[in-house]
Amino acid sequence: MTTMPSGLASYFETRSRKVEKALDSLLSRRSEEPNSLREAMRYSLFAGGKRLRPVLVIAAAECCGGMADQVLFTACAVEMIHTYSLIHDDLPAMDNDDLRRGKPTCHKVFGEAIAILAGDGLLTLAFELMAQQAKVSSKFDAPKSKIQNLKSKILHPSPSDCIEAIRVISSGAGIHGMVGGQVEDLKAEGIHINGNRQEAQKLLERIHRHKTAALISSCLEVGAVLMGASSKARAALKSYGQSIGLAFQIADDILDVIGDKKKMGKRGSDTKNKKLTYTALHGIEAARAQATLLVQKAHQALKSFGEKAAPLHDLAEYIITRDR
Ligand code: IPE
Ligand code: IPE
Ligand code: MG
Ligand code: MG
Ligand code: MG
Repeated sequence: MTTMPSGLASYFETRSRKVEKALDSLLSRRSEEPNSLREAMRYSLFAGGKRLRPVLVIAAAECCGGMADQVLFTACAVEMIHTYSLIHDDLPAMDNDDLRRGKPTCHKVFGEAIAILAGDGLLTLAFELMAQQAKVSSKFDAPKSKIQNLKSKILHPSPSDCIEAIRVISSGAGIHGMVGGQVEDLKAEGIHINGNRQEAQKLLERIHRHKTAALISSCLEVGAVLMGASSKARAALKSYGQSIGLAFQIADDILDVIGDKKKMGKRGSDTKNKKLTYTALHGIEAARAQATLLVQKAHQALKSFGEKAAPLHDLAEYIITRDR
């Protein structure tokens, strides 16, 4: 395991700082909600996540000729959805974890009811934000002057692309993506211990593709969608996302067993929960080999982009060499 190479670190830092600032202003403006709810949402959102998913949205948009500011609302929205998924994942009814992002989990600090509602609040706010982007875009869609027209082309994705973006994220986050995968993850606890290995492997890949790869892949796809990229570019980024998404969860399974818990900011509960993971089924070495193969596949998916995809190539490597 290694830390991020310096070139990627500065790329990541500039993009995630933008996201951080935008998230901060998006959540502090809304002073009308009950305080404990906003506090709980902010507590988990600013506990120190890597911000991988919003950076992937930005990297995909840049790869298609766009800029971070054009996709910033969507980048913030996916981080809200991801954070909500972690709050709920940690609840006693799910993985029952008490440490996340280096701090006590949301339900340990605010209680289960507020943690559930903080998750609901983040999920809902994410979609409000994406809808707001579509509204801003439609304002620029009927320009009064050439200058505004130019501005609309530079700064705002088209309203129909914004709506498609909402569909793509919903699909990655919902019953056919993350939420569906989380259900299968819970149902599969202990299944591999005495069961059929081949069946278990099929189920394992399905779980990981849904609970983790679907949302990650939709982050890549949405970057292309918002930039009005060709269907070929969109499909390539989606495929890259599916490969790194699965590799990401395999790396998470490995870290759960051998990672430095302090760096990870979580304790690792897969063994305690009898989770069906790549390490439980195949062992560390085979899991690593599988993740490496997936990253090779991810590199291939980027072939047609040439130099423009350099950050995405680096990100793919980071995903399996990370230590947190
Ligand atoms: C953890 O995601 C949940 C998984 C899908 C494995 P991250 O490892 O990206 O968590 P943060 O955002 O950095 O806390
Ligand atoms: C969670 O997978 C994936 C989500 C959709 C949140 P894990 O349960 O392995 O994530 P960690 O290890 O708790 O972060
Ligand atoms: Mg889980
Ligand atoms: Mg968990
Ligand atoms: Mg895990």
